[in-house]
Amino acid sequence: MFNELGELLCTITGFDSFSLQPNAGAAGEYTGLMVIRAIIRYGDANSSIKRLLIPAAVAFKARGDHHRNVCIIPVSAHGTNPASAAMCGMKIISVGTDAKGNINIEELRKASEANKDNLSALMVTYPSTHGVYEEGIDEICKIIHDNGGQLYMDGANMNAQISTGGIPAPEQSQPLGTISAAPWGSALILPISYTYIAMMGSKGLTDASKIAILNANYMAKRLENYYPILFRGVNGTVAHEFIVDLRGFKNTAGIEPEDVAKRLMDKGFHAPTMSWPVPGTLMIEPTESESKAVLDRFCDALISIREEIAEIEKGKADIHNNVLKGAPHPPSLLVGDAWTKPYSREYAAFPASWLRVAKFWPSSGRVDNVYGDRNLICTLLAVSQVVEEQAAATA
Ligand SMILES: Cc1ncc(COP(=O)(O)O)c(C=O)c1O
Repeated sequence: MFNELGELLCTITGFDSFSLQPNAGAAGEYTGLMVIRAIIRYGDANSSIKRLLIPAAVAFKARGDHHRNVCIIPVSAHGTNPASAAMCGMKIISVGTDAKGNINIEELRKASEANKDNLSALMVTYPSTHGVYEEGIDEICKIIHDNGGQLYMDGANMNAQISTGGIPAPEQSQPLGTISAAPWGSALILPISYTYIAMMGSKGLTDASKIAILNANYMAKRLENYYPILFRGVNGTVAHEFIVDLRGFKNTAGIEPEDVAKRLMDKGFHAPTMSWPVPGTLMIEPTESESKAVLDRFCDALISIREEIAEIEKGKADIHNNVLKGAPHPPSLLVGDAWTKPYSREYAAFPASWLRVAKFWPSSGRVDNVYGDRNLICTLLAVSQVVEEQAAATA
C-alpha cells in the first residue's frame, strides 16, 4: 500500500519518486532542503538521490558545491520555511512581494545574482499563501536555475493545483539520514491519504481542486462588499484561499482581528488563520469539503460581525465595552447572577437563528495570550501529591 500510495502521489505531482517519511509540512520542507543540499554537495549523474522528491523537470548537475548555503524565501512564505532552512544550516535571504501579493521578481533577481556563487535554493509556495497564482512563476524558476540554485516547492497548497500530472517512474531511493524516527513516518496516517486518493480517483481529485478554488472565490465575492479582500490575481479572482483585511477597524472602531475571531466562536465557528501571512488579517481557506450552506453560514457570521463593528463606528456601541470585546461568551459567564454588559445575554449567546438548533458553547472567556505564552504553568501534580490523593481516595 505504501508503494502504491507513493506511485499515486507521483502521478498526481509529476515527481519521480516520493518519500513518506516526513510527518508534517515542516518535516517535508526539511527533507526537501536536505535533498537539495545532498544533490548540490554530493550529487552526480548516477546518484539515485537526485530523483528523490525533486520534480522531473529540474535537471541537476554534479558540482560538489559544498559552499552553496543561501536559501531565498519570500515574505509570503509560511514561518516554517525559514525555520527549516535554519535547521539545515542555510543562510536565509528574504525577498518581498509587490502590491498584488506576488513575489517581487526584480528583488528576487537582484538577490539571486548577488548570491550567484552561494545560491542553494528558493523555497516557493504555489499558489502562494497570499491566495494568488504567481503570474511570474516560470520566470522565477528560471532566475533561480540560471544562478545555480534549486527549487523547493512547498506543497501546502497542492489542493489548488491537482490535475492528472506527470508519468511515474519510481526509482530506488537512497537514505538521506534521519528524517523521522520511524521508517514510514506516521504510518497509520498513510491509509487515510491512500483511501482518499483511491476513492476520489483522478476526476474526483481534479474536481476537488476546482471546487476548492470555486468555494474561495464564492466567499470572496460574498464578502467583498463588507471587507477589503487583500490580494487578487490578474482576472480579479483568488486561488483556493484569500485574505480579509481587518486592519482598518483598529482606527474606526478599536477592533482587532482577535475580537473578530472570538466573536466567531459565539457564532459557532473556529476562526480561520489569524494575522498570517499578513498581520491584522484573516486568511480564509474553505477547501472543497464544506457544503454551500456552511460557506453561507460562515459568510453570514462575518457579515453580521461587520454590522456589529458598524455599531461601534456609529457610536451606538461603546468602543471598549461591546459584544466583540466581550467575546467569547461561555456558559459560566452567561448564567452568572451578575450581568453588567451593555448588551443582553441573549444577544451575546444567540446572535443568529441557526444557533438555536446547533450551538457550540465556548468553554472559557477571553484569556491573556501574551501572559500565557510568557508564563508556563505546570498543571500536573507532584508525584508525592498524586500518591497522597490516591491514598486518601482509597482510605
Ligand atoms: C504554506 C505552508 N507551508 C508549510 C506549512 C507547515 O505545515 P505543518 O504545519 O504541517 O508543519 C503550512 C501549514 O499550514 C503552510 O500553510
